[in-house]
Order: sequence, then structure tokens, then C-alpha cells
Amino acid sequence: MPADFNTEYEEALIKQLGTLTKDKKIFILLEGVLFFISRDDTNKLFSLFGEIQNSGEYVGSVSFQKAIEKKSAFKKLEKFAKERLDFNEKFCYQTVEDSYYENLDNYQVIEHHDTVSLNNKHGGKELNLNELLDEHMYILKRK
Ligand SMILES: C[S@@+](CC[C@H](N)C(=O)[O-])C[C@H]1O[C@@H](n2cnc3c(N)ncnc32)[C@H](O)[C@@H]1O
Repeated sequence: MPADFNTEYEEALIKQLGTLTKDKKIFILLEGVLFFISRDDTNKLFSLFGEIQNSGEYVGSVSFQKAIEKKSAFKKLEKFAKERLDFNEKFCYQTVEDSYYENLDNYQVIEHHDTVSLNNKHGGKELNLNELLDEHMYILKRK
């Protein structure tokens, strides 16, 4: 079920999802998307998630933090995105700090990991941090 966040998509999507998810629990996974969209569109998305989910249901969200801007791997990603992707004029990539998730009205942060902490936890190889697109992963619970 496609949706273009640059359009007024909410009403139609909520209607379609309502039929699909009737009497079912909803888990939402948002991976690789927040980088591409604005903070306003992100707020709209989380507000929509809050509408379609019931208390106790989960969102998994993956995003970059501002500190990643200094890394050479990120500079390559930014260059690639600017050269190859057809963004509208307003485009500016988004990074998301912990405080954004912590201040969401409808959600509580249950877990937070990042690539480095997960690598350490699971005994992964030594990482070249400057060449790593270090992602932050959050599990949020609908209040
Ligand atoms: C790197 S991909 C991540 C794909 C995702 N993990 C998945 O499994 O579908 C980035 C995604 O962001 C979506 N995206 C970016 N800007 C969008 C927008 N304005 N409206 C809707 N989707 C958007 C793209 O369509 C693409 O599917």
C-alpha cells in the first residue's frame, strides 16, 4: 500500500489500513526512511501511527544521529543522495536525536541500541568507525 509523504495521504491510508488491520495487533517498522523526509512529515507519520495503533503496540524506528555528519561514510552517502535522487527543492536530510523519541506524546522508548553497541554485545569484528554508517534503533511502545 504505497503512500507519498509529500501528499495528503493520511485519510486514505488510515481507511485502507483500518480494513486490513481490523482486530489485529500492529507492529510498525520504519527503517531507512527518516533520513529522506522532513521533520514535519516525521511528526505527521508518528501522529498517524498513534492513531492506528492501540496501547501496548510497538514501533521499531531506525535513524541517524547528528554526530554521524562528521564521518567520511556519511559524506559519501550525502553526496550520493544529492547526485542520484530526485528530491524536491526543500530536501535536506534528517538526523534524529534521542530527545525526539523521548518527547513523543504517544510513545515511550522501551529499547535503544546503535550499531556499535550491538556489535560489541554480539562480539562482532572491530569496526572502522569513520567508514561506518552508525544507525540508532529504537523500540517504542504506544502509551
Ligand atoms: C533506503 S529505502 C528503505 C526501504 C525500507 N527499509 C523498506 O524495506 O521498504 C528508503 C525508502 O524511503 C521511502 N521514501 C523516501 N521519501 C519518501 C516520501 N516522501 N514518501 C514516501 N516514502 C518515501 C522510499 O520510497 C524508500 O522506500
